[in-house]
Amino acid sequence: MCGIFGCVLHEGTTAAPLIRSALKRLEYRGYDSIGQVTVNGGRLYVKKDRGRLEEVHSKYNLDDMPGSVGVGHTRWATHGRPAQENAHPHVDCKSRIAVVHNGIIENYLDIKRELEGKSHRFLSRTDTEIVPHLVEDYIGQGLGLVEAFRKTVNRLEGAYSLVLTSADQPRTILCARQESPLVLGVGNGEYYCASDISAFLPLTKKALVLEEGEMCVLDPNGIKILRAKNGEVVKRDLITITWDPESAKKHGFRHFMLKEVHEQVQTIKDALRTHQIYYDLAASKIIGSEKLFIVACGTSYHAGLVGSLALTRLAGIDARVVVASEFSEEALDLVNDRTAILAVSQSGETMDTLNAIRDAKAKGASILSVTNVMGSTMMRLSDVYIGQNCGPEVGVAATKTFTSQVAVLLRLAATLGRKTGKAPVEKIDELEDALHRTPGMIEELLNTKVESVRRIADSISNAASICFLGRGVNVPTALEGRLKLLELSYVPAIAYPAGESKHGFISLIEEGFPVVFIAPPDETHKKIIGNIMEMKARGARIISLIQEGDEEIRNLSDDVVEIPGSLPPLATPIVYVVPLQLLAYYLSVGKGHDPDYPRNLAKSVTVE
Ligand code: AGP
Repeated sequence: MCGIFGCVLHEGTTAAPLIRSALKRLEYRGYDSIGQVTVNGGRLYVKKDRGRLEEVHSKYNLDDMPGSVGVGHTRWATHGRPAQENAHPHVDCKSRIAVVHNGIIENYLDIKRELEGKSHRFLSRTDTEIVPHLVEDYIGQGLGLVEAFRKTVNRLEGAYSLVLTSADQPRTILCARQESPLVLGVGNGEYYCASDISAFLPLTKKALVLEEGEMCVLDPNGIKILRAKNGEVVKRDLITITWDPESAKKHGFRHFMLKEVHEQVQTIKDALRTHQIYYDLAASKIIGSEKLFIVACGTSYHAGLVGSLALTRLAGIDARVVVASEFSEEALDLVNDRTAILAVSQSGETMDTLNAIRDAKAKGASILSVTNVMGSTMMRLSDVYIGQNCGPEVGVAATKTFTSQVAVLLRLAATLGRKTGKAPVEKIDELEDALHRTPGMIEELLNTKVESVRRIADSISNAASICFLGRGVNVPTALEGRLKLLELSYVPAIAYPAGESKHGFISLIEEGFPVVFIAPPDETHKKIIGNIMEMKARGARIISLIQEGDEEIRNLSDDVVEIPGSLPPLATPIVYVVPLQLLAYYLSVGKGHDPDYPRNLAKSVTVE
């Protein structure tokens, strides 16, 4: 998730300072590298480097770039670590075309090889850089700029919002989008494009939405929208924005956390877009090792638990999950140069996890990591890393990073399942297919079930404690539900494997004690019904997350949240955790807390 802003201003106006201030408003979308390009006197002016906006500005003075047309980009790395050569914009061989991009181009490697075969020279490790070279190639074949860009766009697979400037057409900006967001602003004879409205809101409240599969031409005559497939012109009505700049960043949601819960419909798709090559590299390291440890903290630890179970079920691999702060006491003695460590951390900067990695590395272990921050310390310490691609998470409570971690770990287990041949291929196919269905199920859940979760939250707002129970792969889901609730509402919540609850916890049960069951119709369904009966018999208030149509558990429950559609067991945590994220959110808001910045917590715990 990067930030993009482009503008076509009145001739004689300087675009650079405006671009820089717009990037400042977009920095929450990504902040590991910054770049700007302006067009003037028949040439491109490019300034870019890794680092925050202020850092790069103080080094290069981003305002000192001539020209009234330009584009800026603030990066959240997915392909190619934060480095000057990987910062945007990227240019063609003759530096006549510059492109910035937000999203992931899945077939970039094939196109890159094709262009290298035509002696195009690439300077970065990004997927984006193929775009200016492909446009250059089509112009070389006689196409005009717009047609060359349109043909290029039609070759791309994946998610993208692209913005292009050209030294040969200095008063024009071209844009295209597929899945990744891009909106257009209409000023007084000046025109803007941006990843989101917050970028140009101080300049105009008049906007045009660019729909999926569309491209557009911005020039002094205005904005022309075309269908990328066939070049057909599209008429679109202007909309007037009523948001203030702060809520624009939250896309109209009251808090970043709620926005990020809703972003999961997109971020899981993006997490599943990471190139297979990363999974194959990680899998070969794991297969080549004698022992595998999964190391993480907090929410990432819960994702690791799901990953461990999947590795066992799909690949027959025993992956021991260890809380990072306990690693040196619990496992370090077992580590040697035939050990693999799979570290999971959205920030990639959690000190406990880094310490465990460093200790294991010192004993010769190979380090694999799943992280959301390219260029993070953890990524740099790793022999192989797999990106989560879900953009910066502002809310302290991890939400979209949990579901994207689970999606990545399940895909890794599926890759190992294929390589080890331990599980039937149909079972692996079924899981991979299900992973791609989870965004749609979450979308339907968010469109239909939020009110019922909010009602349940209101009804338990005075509870002294709440318990979460699950079985099998949903024990981690129960643990995650508990963590979200206690860190946001400050209610001392409890979580247990449901079967274990009768060996102690059940003594806490009294009339009305809220117990939340995560109960999909999997191999544990019968047993969890038994656990529900045990709690119900002692007066507990039963709140069940069930699959739509599960009358058996519905009839036993005081409240239910129905999950639309079915999933193979291993994929259920991705969807069943969403009502638990919402429950914690509404309980926190109901108690007057700020769910984005809960007390005593930091987004990344960089101390021991
Ligand atoms: C989760 O909501 C918390 N913010 C916290 O437990 C977090 O998961 C933990 O600190 C690990 O962070 P990491 O994924 O960045 O390593």
